[in-house]
Amino acid sequence: MKKLEERIRQEGEILSDTVLKVDSFLNHQVDTALALEIGREFASIFEGKTITKVLTIEASGIQFAMATGIALNVPFVYAKKKKAITQAEKVYTAPVHSFTRQETYQVSISQKYLGPDDKVLIVDDFLATGAALVGLVQIVKEAGAELVGVGCVIEKGFQEGRGLLEQMGVDVHSLARIAKMAPGEIHFTEQQSA
Ligand code: G4P
Ligand code: NA
Ligand code: NA
Repeated sequence: MKKLEERIRQEGEILSDTVLKVDSFLNHQVDTALALEIGREFASIFEGKTITKVLTIEASGIQFAMATGIALNVPFVYAKKKKAITQAEKVYTAPVHSFTRQETYQVSISQKYLGPDDKVLIVDDFLATGAALVGLVQIVKEAGAELVGVGCVIEKGFQEGRGLLEQMGVDVHSLARIAKMAPGEIHFTEQQSA
């Protein structure tokens, strides 16, 4: 998605060879028109596939899952990172290891909102180590649902996330793929789509 790449070039802050900050339009302040376009782009990439539900993880995946759900006219569900004390119902859970925080936490989804009849598109903001996304894939399997694919807004192609997901047989699509970056420079992987 050329427009997204341009926005990253203009406003992204490359903090190191591995960390990109996009707080002005994606992760803190959200450009709502761009978010809706991102949702339409995911819907068009997976056009022709039946999708009954979009799945993401709180917090930064939510606006893109919502935009994709709007474009597909289906609900979205977000996995929670903390177990609420009010959460009495049965849940699916998966452990996620956070490399940035060096800790493992559980993500969970109520069993009410995902089941064997669902065809799921997973959406998230970043594809990095893939830890969170692998957790979501495990939850989809545990629910007996069908995984249609994974859509990520920004992929850091030099990290292991895509490889891990592809090893699991997952169809992964990202709208901006960073091949390499360093403070002051960024290189995207050439893509066919607009
Ligand atoms: P992931 O590839 O499955 O996302 O897992 P990873 O453990 O690598 O990433 C940990 C968190 O950091 C994730 O957010 C991920 O979206 C975010 N992240 C990874 N790399 C970058 C980066 O270069 N820039 C920014 N802005 N974020 C990055 P999270 O733990 O799910 O938290 P939340 O922000 O969604 O609440
Ligand atoms: Na995220
Ligand atoms: Na994030």
